[in-house]
Amino acid sequence: MESLFSHMVNSMHAEDVKILMKQSSGKNVISFAGGMPNNDLFPVQQIDEIYGTLPLDLKKLSFQYGPTSGYPPLVRSIEKYLRKKGLPVDENKTLVTTGSLQAISIITQEFVNKGDVILTENPCFVGALTVFETYGADIQGIPIDEHGIKIDALKKKIRSLDKTPKFLYVTPNYHNPAGIIYTPERKKELIETLSGTGIILLEDDAYNDLYFKVEEKYLTKPMISYTSKDVEIIYTGSFSKILGPGFRLGYMLASPYIYEKAENIKQALDACTSNLTQILANEFMEQGKLEPYLEFLRKEYSGRKELIQNSLKKYMPEEITWNEPKGGFYVWLDLPERMNSTDIFKESLKKGVVFVTGRTFDPKSTKDDCLRLSFSNMPKEDIEKGVEILSDAIRKKM
Ligand SMILES: Cc1ncc(COP(=O)(O)O)c(C=O)c1O
Repeated sequence: MESLFSHMVNSMHAEDVKILMKQSSGKNVISFAGGMPNNDLFPVQQIDEIYGTLPLDLKKLSFQYGPTSGYPPLVRSIEKYLRKKGLPVDENKTLVTTGSLQAISIITQEFVNKGDVILTENPCFVGALTVFETYGADIQGIPIDEHGIKIDALKKKIRSLDKTPKFLYVTPNYHNPAGIIYTPERKKELIETLSGTGIILLEDDAYNDLYFKVEEKYLTKPMISYTSKDVEIIYTGSFSKILGPGFRLGYMLASPYIYEKAENIKQALDACTSNLTQILANEFMEQGKLEPYLEFLRKEYSGRKELIQNSLKKYMPEEITWNEPKGGFYVWLDLPERMNSTDIFKESLKKGVVFVTGRTFDPKSTKDDCLRLSFSNMPKEDIEKGVEILSDAIRKKM
């Protein structure tokens, strides 16, 4: 039987993702694992009202197939929203995708043959690692620090390779899992480093809107909107963190010739993204409901961030360090090198607390002296208790 399977099933990280999804929704556990909103935060009532008041024609259309490129009014709404953020919408084309993970998958199919090199950050969003592995890419991770990808390490890696990597995949704003945001200087340096190399930059901006302080919003400026650049940049975004992952709505912005082929690939994958969720999302945006909802989310997540930071300060042993995120969902804990988060996981699970181990986000699945805590998904009341239990588990393994 084994011999019947295609090469595509060989993804080291796919099992990790399955376990992660299971843990995120486990009953009777305090879960810091799920990188998704809490169910109580979804705008259920507003979506009920939107659907209830849709004209019959639109209701019927929502059950129908649609154009592969996306429901045209939603494409226009996304473009309006991106234009407002200063993105170069007119020089590029927008493709609606079934979640932004599908956009990442499409780009990988478009450019990567088995054995081709993809550069990523290390740590890296595990969903993307799974996609890259599925297509047989040679994934080369570059370390990051609190300001972004390490430029020296990136230059050294590019010099050391005997073939040009197809692209560099990065999550510069509110990184998953490290919680950092790139400084504008680091973004500039990154663009300069890639200039003239022929390496495409794949910029994943799933958390762009989730800043905690409006004064820091300027930090979220995407690299695709930087004016002086000689690099091909493909930009991806998502509705998962600002409306709900159940909508399965994402998009990509790319040059017309990259877009054309991407559209053909999407056609073969699923013909089109659900018209139902596209119509609902479009109404949500068109009726001016997105911005007030984002205001609510920013307050909620920044309150949760305060809670987890205070609890970490109160309970964590001195040797443990972590970041204070400026937005997004994640806190990244650094453990002393002698420790590993897999052992800690086993210990804290006994007391009903789960999180995601560091090695899950390492392209080579080895570096484990770190772990990810997500504060977006659990009931708020559980944060302090969960951190206390986790701190005890860490202390036991020290
Ligand atoms: C960095 C990053 N990119 C993309 C995604 C995938 O989002 P979507 O639900 O739009 O496929 C996630 C989800 O966790 C993410 O963290």
